[in-house]
Amino acid sequence: MPSMSRKTIFVTGSSGLIGSEVCTHFHAQGWHVHGVDNNQRATFFGPQGDTRWNQQRLESTLANFTHHELDIRNRDGVLALIADVAPHAIVHTAAQPSHDRAAAIPFDDFDTNAVGTLNLLEALRQVSLETPFVHMSTNKVYGDLPNTIPLVELETRWEYKDSAYEHGIPETFGIDHSKHSLFGASKVAADVMVQEYGRYFGMPTCCLRGGCLTGPSHSGVELHGFLSYLVKANKAKKQYTVFGYKGKQVRDNIHSQDVAAFIARFIDSPREAAVYNIGGGKANSCSILEAFDMVAHATGIPMDFIYSDTARAGDHICYYSDLRKCRLIIPAGNQRCRWQRLSSRLRRRHDPR
Ligand SMILES: NC(=O)c1ccc[n+]([C@@H]2O[C@H](COP(=O)([O-])OP(=O)(O)OC[C@H]3O[C@@H](n4cnc5c(N)ncnc54)[C@H](O)[C@@H]3O)[C@@H](O)[C@H]2O)c1
Repeated sequence: MPSMSRKTIFVTGSSGLIGSEVCTHFHAQGWHVHGVDNNQRATFFGPQGDTRWNQQRLESTLANFTHHELDIRNRDGVLALIADVAPHAIVHTAAQPSHDRAAAIPFDDFDTNAVGTLNLLEALRQVSLETPFVHMSTNKVYGDLPNTIPLVELETRWEYKDSAYEHGIPETFGIDHSKHSLFGASKVAADVMVQEYGRYFGMPTCCLRGGCLTGPSHSGVELHGFLSYLVKANKAKKQYTVFGYKGKQVRDNIHSQDVAAFIARFIDSPREAAVYNIGGGKANSCSILEAFDMVAHATGIPMDFIYSDTARAGDHICYYSDLRKCRLIIPAGNQRCRWQRLSSRLRRRHDPR
């Protein structure tokens, strides 16, 4: 069992958006942080996806941070490192994260997302059955099934017509009989395996099915990082392509600090095979057109975009998370997230009444 002197957390994808935020959060709570990242994001997406800057930031600002240059597909390496570190918690955020990129690199996608997750779960099981394991899953595990919910078209967005979904998509929504993209399918494999290590071995595992996650540490690229890329494109006056659904497709957005805070709550009181939809919820959702408007008001730069009639395969027309299950483990009074504060500030600028 791990030593009790200073708690140790093992974070995969530590140079990425969520991983780096988790490292910073737990370090501030006095944990020793072991980060695993091999800058695979630069291989997936090219120089704009390079996360070395973020690794260097963590190494220079967090005294009790140790970086490990390891590929999670390296099974022997993962088994040896987890046995050596014997962490008090694992947060797994390393992934091939792009819906659209996966079709061009199916082996890399599946080996990273599905097999890499299995490597970590099994390595942990061999060390401890009590250590919490938090996995960043995705709302793409629902495939395009949310698109079967009847919708109503509003001026700037699509909205659910069926009042059963007035709070958004719950964790009980079906995950099969739909088109996922290869990315969605590899994430389903990981999600189900994480649940299975919880149910079958009684381990405290958790899947967080994210909506759009955002924050300052995202190395946003066109194929991944919705708000990060959108803001970058706006500021660089670069043309943005909207794919289908009239630009009215809706995503819910959550700040990476809120995700890290939620993960800490789960690790404080873990349970077996937990699944949560984590996102901004309805209050923090926006369509692409609405996001253009908010960003243009914030920067003063009109958004330059073109429209393509071809929607991304398996893209959600309207998706926001039902946060009621998540809220059960967040203390009352702390439920207004950072994106909500940001969007209400932007709305005030927009409509000063
Ligand atoms: N960002 C979003 O909007 C979003 C939405 C839903 C779900 N998620 C999920 O959340 C998780 C984190 O997303 P993110 O936005 O922080 O991604 P990110 O790409 O910013 O970070 C992932 C990190 O993992 C590293 N990595 C990738 N493959 C690796 C490998 N084989 N070995 C070691 N390191 C590897 C990358 O170099 C990168 O630094 C992912 O599982 C993603 O699918 C993200």
